[in-house]
Amino acid sequence: MDFHHISVMPEETVSGLVTDPSGIYVDCTLGGAGHSHLIADRLTPSGRIIGIDQDEEAIAAARERLRDCSCRIDIVHDNFRHLDAILAAQDAPFVDGVLFDLGVSSHQIDTAERGFSYMQDAPLDMRMDPEATFSAYDVINTYSEDELDRIFHDYGEERWARRIAKFIVQARKDRPIDTTGALVDVICRAVPKAVRESAGGHPAKRIFQAVRIEVNDELGILKNAFESAVHHLKPGGRIAIITFHSLEDRIAKQTLKTMASGCICPPELPVCVCHHHPEIRLLGKPRQASKEELRENSRSKSAKLRLAEKLPPYDDKEKEGR
Ligand SMILES: C[S@@+](CC[C@H](N)C(=O)[O-])C[C@H]1O[C@@H](n2cnc3c(N)ncnc32)[C@H](O)[C@@H]1O
Repeated sequence: MDFHHISVMPEETVSGLVTDPSGIYVDCTLGGAGHSHLIADRLTPSGRIIGIDQDEEAIAAARERLRDCSCRIDIVHDNFRHLDAILAAQDAPFVDGVLFDLGVSSHQIDTAERGFSYMQDAPLDMRMDPEATFSAYDVINTYSEDELDRIFHDYGEERWARRIAKFIVQARKDRPIDTTGALVDVICRAVPKAVRESAGGHPAKRIFQAVRIEVNDELGILKNAFESAVHHLKPGGRIAIITFHSLEDRIAKQTLKTMASGCICPPELPVCVCHHHPEIRLLGKPRQASKEELRENSRSKSAKLRLAEKLPPYDDKEKEGR
């Protein structure tokens, strides 16, 4: 299988993540194993990578790509929302690094029949895990006008959300909207001509993003997954998160910020009652792709890389201070 995907900020990510050449690293979004392959290059034979993906095609491509690596490789077909259970099953309760490179791969977008692309006509699908039973067809053909409006607004930040939702509900009265092409037609009819022809990008772009997020519950699982990743880090271990749009980046930023904070009591309380201690320290500001990378990989344009390091348990720090 030809699996095309160019990894985003590869060097910055891997050098920020790997601190111990014989450590254990978890790649929660294995994809074509672009990042994992670079991680493996930095590990000795006693190092280990646990790679997770919910897409069998990615798993097959990654298995092939990592075949000759000298470190131990364990590949798991699952959703990273089950990180606790996955690490328990792998007998790896504490690890040295966890990577999330969120969203879909170029391979998923470019494979027309997966239904992720508004540029190619195909069945309405958009499941990252092809074994899942809920697809874009269900969202577009069963959600009420209010529900469609909500997801287009919340997950697509689409100005014409209500109007597009209305047009979809009207159009599906005649026959189900069962292809990406049919959905693009309805969106184009709903969006005023002047907006369609403006420089704001394809009118279907934000709607497809919204439906994809809904189908795969992409945002709902992030906070718990990031927290769980931090809980499984050894002191000094690192988490790296690459986001591609403001919605997922907001969750990454907020979750890391809270975990890096001391007291989180409301400012009006005179004394601390939360007894919250920082679990991580943030490693600098979020990084973005260099000009050279942007020239070679347009997908890196909106990417942000956030890095953080696990702190020693609070009791140990107190002892150190004594
Ligand atoms: C951007 S690609 C990763 C590319 C990879 N880092 C590389 O360099 O080749 C994201 C991958 O994560 C997978 N993925 C997204 N969300 C997931 C989730 N919740 N659980 C497991 N895999 C997920 C997708 O199926 C896709 O293969």
